[in-house]
Order: sequence, then structure tokens, then C-alpha cells
Amino acid sequence: MADSLTIALSKGRILQETLPLLAHAGIELTEDPDASRKLVLETTQPGVKVVVVRATDVPTYVEHGGADVGVAGKDVLMEYGSRGLYEPLDLRIARCKLMVAGRPDAAQPRRPRVATKFVNIARRYYAGQGRQAELIKLYGSMELAPLVGMADLIVDLVDTGNTLRANGLEPLEHIADISSRLVVNKASMKVKHRPLKALIGQLREAVEGGQ
Ligand code: ATP
Ligand code: PRP
Repeated sequence: MADSLTIALSKGRILQETLPLLAHAGIELTEDPDASRKLVLETTQPGVKVVVVRATDVPTYVEHGGADVGVAGKDVLMEYGSRGLYEPLDLRIARCKLMVAGRPDAAQPRRPRVATKFVNIARRYYAGQGRQAELIKLYGSMELAPLVGMADLIVDLVDTGNTLRANGLEPLEHIADISSRLVVNKASMKVKHRPLKALIGQLREAVEGGQ
């Protein structure tokens, strides 16, 4: 029982990019997650299962013991405020940047309207710089807000820059480099120390070996 482990992952790029790392640790899904509506997936290791949750819910599941361990973007962890979690490993996957973006050449007011789903990060960023901003909370498609005149700026993730360019926006300020991190429940780290230490060690090997 002490060897049972529940791993929280989100569908999409985190699941896809974490699976090869887990394979290095001898953990493989026994069914195709894209062909299944199941939220609890068995693996080739008895007692080890993967639960599929929203990306933004991974820290909540891990902090509250719904999963022992999970993978979440640093953006999600910064927004969540993950003091209740251990973050032992940078998996170096799903890499991108958190940026302020806006229209090129647009004159910015002293107190710009900033649309974002990362309101906590944006609040800290502007406060840290001693600048004012009116934050507008959105849940997605932030790029639209400046186009319809609802915001002067956005705070969003940027990888290739294609989404910004396609909407006539450009990156203006760099807030943070982002990659996905392994997060671990604090109680699990004590109670399930042996299997978790082994998993973290194998994942570290996979990351360092460039798997
Ligand atoms: P939710 O379903 O909870 O809204 P989401 O749609 O943001 O989550 P994903 O798009 O799979 O979920 O993003 C998961 C993580 O991948 C993000 O938290 C971020 O760390 C990273 N990420 C997001 N967009 C990119 C990108 N374009 N390139 C690389 N990594 C990215
Ligand atoms: C992410 C992010 C940006 C885009 C940036 O969206 O929210 O919109 O990627 O990547 P780019 O600079 O390479 O264009 P994603 O593709 O994950 O869509 P989603 O937010 O709807 O999941």
C-alpha cells in the first residue's frame, strides 16, 4: 500500500511530454488516454495510476492529497502560490515565456488595463515595479482583449509568438521563463518516501539524459 502512487497530469502537451519521462521510470499507460474518457488511468506498474485533471487544478489535487505527485507549468504554480507543495524537479518540458504583450507603437496610459488569466502574477509584477495597472480577469483568448478595445495590454504565455503575431500584437516585457515542474504532496513525501524518492531519481535521470 505504501508503494501505491497517484500521479496528476493534464491532457494535451503536459501529458504528451511527461509520458516519455515516466516511461524511463518504467511507468507506461495501459490504454491510450486520447481514446478514453476515463479520468483514472492504470499503468504497467501495479499500484501506480495517473489521474487526468485540468492543468490549473494539478496543484490543488496534489496539495489536498487527491494525488501524491503531479506535473504543472511554473505559470500555474506561480499563480496558485504553491507554498503547500514540494517542487523537487524542473522537467524542462512545455517551455515558453510569460510576457506582457500589446500593440506595437501603442502609447500606454499611466494605468494600463491589463487582461490576463494570471491576475496574481500580473499584480505582483506591476507592484514589484512600482507601476499601476487595472487588471481584467479572463479565462482564455487574452489576445482578443486589445483588439476589441477592452484592454491596453495582456499578460500571456508566448512560445513561437505566432498567436501574438496573428492578432497584431507583439511581446513587450519578459516576466518569467516557464517550464513544467514535478510537484509533490508534503505528507506523501514522508509516508511514501521510498517510492517517491525512486520516482524523482528516475525522472531526474530522464531529464538529464534528454529523454
Ligand atoms: P486549462 O485547461 O486548465 O485552461 P491550459 O489550456 O492552459 O489549461 P495547456 O495549454 O495544456 O493547458 O498548457 C499547460 C501548460 O503548458 C501551461 O501551464 C504552460 O506551462 C505550458 N504551455 C502553454 N502554452 C504553451 C506553448 N504554446 N508552448 C509551450 N508550453 C506551453
Ligand atoms: C498557448 C498560450 C498562447 C499560445 C502561445 O495557447 O495561451 O495563446 O500558446 O504559443 P505561440 O507563441 O507558439 O503562439 P495554447 O496553444 O495552449 O491554447 P490554449 O490556451 O487554448 O490551450
